[in-house]
Amino acid sequence: MAPLTLTITRPDDWHLHLRDGSALNTVVPHTASQFARAIVMPNLKPPVTTAALALEYQQRILDAVPAGMQFEPLMTLYLTDNINPAEIAIAKAAGVVAAKLYPAGATTNSDAGVTDIKKIYPVLEAMQKHGMLLLVHGEVTNQDIDLFDREAVFIDQHLEPLRRDFPGLKIVFEHITTQEAAQYVQEANENLAATLTVHHLMFNRNAIFTGGIRPHYYCLPVLKREKHRLALLQAATSGDARFFLGTDSAPHAAQLKEHSSGCAGCYTAPAAMAMYAQVFANAGALHQLEAFASFNGADFYGLARNRSTLTLVQEDEMQPESYPYADAQLKPLLGGQTLSWRLA
Ligand code: NCD
Ligand code: ZN
Repeated sequence: MAPLTLTITRPDDWHLHLRDGSALNTVVPHTASQFARAIVMPNLKPPVTTAALALEYQQRILDAVPAGMQFEPLMTLYLTDNINPAEIAIAKAAGVVAAKLYPAGATTNSDAGVTDIKKIYPVLEAMQKHGMLLLVHGEVTNQDIDLFDREAVFIDQHLEPLRRDFPGLKIVFEHITTQEAAQYVQEANENLAATLTVHHLMFNRNAIFTGGIRPHYYCLPVLKREKHRLALLQAATSGDARFFLGTDSAPHAAQLKEHSSGCAGCYTAPAAMAMYAQVFANAGALHQLEAFASFNGADFYGLARNRSTLTLVQEDEMQPESYPYADAQLKPLLGGQTLSWRLA
């Protein structure tokens, strides 16, 4: 019997870390082989804080796209306490589509992030006026709040006041990980959406501790309990247009993850669409994959849907254990394991 195939409008990745320099040569082709566009996160060292830096970075990414592949990096600005509100109009005119709010210290390369959201109110005002989206890493950073509770606390302490003060601002609650976040988005208006990673749809927090500590399952926001995974899966497969695909694929050299103080971030780009297809198929919701992966994000961002297609095949394929990555190794999540879908 011929294997099941699924052809969908070519998807986009609405939350992606590509890094810089020679790392781009490894990671850009992985994403470009599946996705037409991606929202590129600005948390470089130093961060992408101006339109000029974003355009230079965009060109370095384009230079790493293999000949014959089509890929459009959509650029974002990194918000700091000191960003000049005038930069928003300049960035918008340069084609930058969004700005990212990292609470200072919340995650990898977020030291320059915002220490108090009130400090960037003039910038948010400018974003609301110019129609630039706000992308939020929704976790509080207080050390006295339990790590597993930081997303839920962020909703009450920061997201709710922010939405009240800027009702016209379009906000993406990035990589949500909890039932509270899924429910909050479901009950909110059309100006709030959320991205969902494939690892948060596939795994609960047990994965980090199965048979020993497994650093490749460590990301931020950290994996949560099974009831949260189920709530995210329900949201992703519900047909609600405000949930869409964002891998948060976040490459780190293997030796920096397999470390006494290992980096946060799961590298899922190489087999991202195979993994999402597996998740949706197992949930009996393959018919919802195209809207989730290819329509909802573009619609929310106000961008045209893609016209080309991507075909997936339900057939076993073993993932490579690692890839060369500058002078190190990069280990994908589920590397060396067999996935039940592959690209045609
Ligand atoms: C990301 C990274 O490594 O840049 N890490 C992660 O665990 N997701 C940063 C982020 O998106 O939080
Ligand atoms: Zn991220």
